Amino acid sequence: MARTSAGPHSKWWRSPATRALAGVATVAATAAVLVTAPGADAAASTLGAAAAQSGRYFGTAIAASKLGNSAYTTIAAREFNMVTPENEMKPDATEPNQNQFNFSSGDQIYNWAVGHGAKVRGHTLAWHAQQPGWMQNMGGSSLRNAMINHIQKVMAHYQGKLAYWDVVNEAFNEDGSRRSSNLQSTGNDWIEVAFKTARAADPSTKLCYNDYNIDNWNYGKTQGVYNMVRDFKSRGVPIDCVGLQAHFTGGSSVPSNLQTTISSFAALGVDVALTEVDVTNSSTSQYAALTQACMNVARCVGITVWGVRDSDSWRSNESPLLFDGNGNKKAAYNSVLNVLNSGGGTTTTPTTTPTDPTTTPTTTTTPGGGSCTASLSAGQSWSDRYNLNVSVSGASSWTVTMTVPSPARISATWNINATWPSSQVLVATPNGNGNNWGVTIQHNGNWNWPSVSCSSS
Ligand code: G3I
Repeated sequence: MARTSAGPHSKWWRSPATRALAGVATVAATAAVLVTAPGADAAASTLGAAAAQSGRYFGTAIAASKLGNSAYTTIAAREFNMVTPENEMKPDATEPNQNQFNFSSGDQIYNWAVGHGAKVRGHTLAWHAQQPGWMQNMGGSSLRNAMINHIQKVMAHYQGKLAYWDVVNEAFNEDGSRRSSNLQSTGNDWIEVAFKTARAADPSTKLCYNDYNIDNWNYGKTQGVYNMVRDFKSRGVPIDCVGLQAHFTGGSSVPSNLQTTISSFAALGVDVALTEVDVTNSSTSQYAALTQACMNVARCVGITVWGVRDSDSWRSNESPLLFDGNGNKKAAYNSVLNVLNSGGGTTTTPTTTPTDPTTTPTTTTTPGGGSCTASLSAGQSWSDRYNLNVSVSGASSWTVTMTVPSPARISATWNINATWPSSQVLVATPNGNGNNWGVTIQHNGNWNWPSVSCSSS
């Protein structure tokens, strides 16, 4: 929440532009920017906003076929600030015929997500399953070349747009050996070739390995994936993140050492995320435990549940999600929200704090009349990112434009409808959840705060 007390950033109040605006707050056709001091975050009422308080996201899988269902989209837009297309960016969807690409369903989800202030995780580029028919019977160098071409073309289409890409999905057996597949038959180096190809195709997106049953630190598959990531990091093969699908369903439950697994991967120098969470009968204790395990590790960047309502789940007969078929919040929803609101654990200590910006805040005049003020206040910060809370006053119909200084990027937003004219510019409008919202900024070495302008009509 925005606060008005003086603090480390209060010198903004003394900037000429701000002083000039102080006396004209009620004058029509004026917009102002004020920056206030850091303040503690209040409990948030949605999953995305609650996760964002600690610089994390809370996401869901989205199916394009359900975007016409308003009960579904109302919940999805309100609660989540990361979206994974459930099936629409998989190889059978994006390249149904060799070298003929179809991005219509993937784009539909992408556009819906960014239009509702969410980021998008691409899923997935190289996988033994959901291959198009033409690929299923390929092998050898023709399949290797087809995989490379697929990665290059799909990533080119989404270049600069996605926060993460699951480059390779489910490539290991339960004992930690490589799964046999047509991709594996092209040579043991297929995974690193996929990651190198992906880095060259879009250096702006984080490249992830994603798998299930890698939650228990003592499990063979977990160790197999861990050893691969360690090997990649030691040899400079590009990999930025590991996704633990976390399907705790069909009898498997959250292991007590889940936090050890997350922190062990993180210690290799990669982001970790829980990417496809569902839990048999939505055990409140298991949902709380998996959320707490993520919150306790600084590089656990977010949690995604694999669907919105139980009726949307690939295992709907196990009631594994956070909303029932009627869209009601389940007990597990509250257990997750409470853990997210309780803040990060012992390893989320900020190492640096944002500095004041050197640029003067911009102001704009709205030709149509009206006035509004966008006030920024510092939220939590970490070594790689920080939160800003934004409070808009003076109008209920407003547009705030935020420009972050390069190479910083906005990695998450909450409580707004957002559009992205470029990767550095966010245009925010109300989403019906009031006038308090926020952003997470990956500073990439530039801690200067963004400039903002507010206009109303
Ligand atoms: O859309 C067609 C429909 O036209 C047709 O009538 C119907 C008949 O079977 O099939 C429909 O497609 C189904 C598709 O889901 C959309 O509902 C496919 O058969 C079905 O195989 C597909 O299942 C998906 C599954 O991946 C495929 O492997 C699930 O939705 C999806 O949730 C699931 O997601 C995976 C992750 O990608 C990776 N991790 C495991 C996770 C769960 O299996």
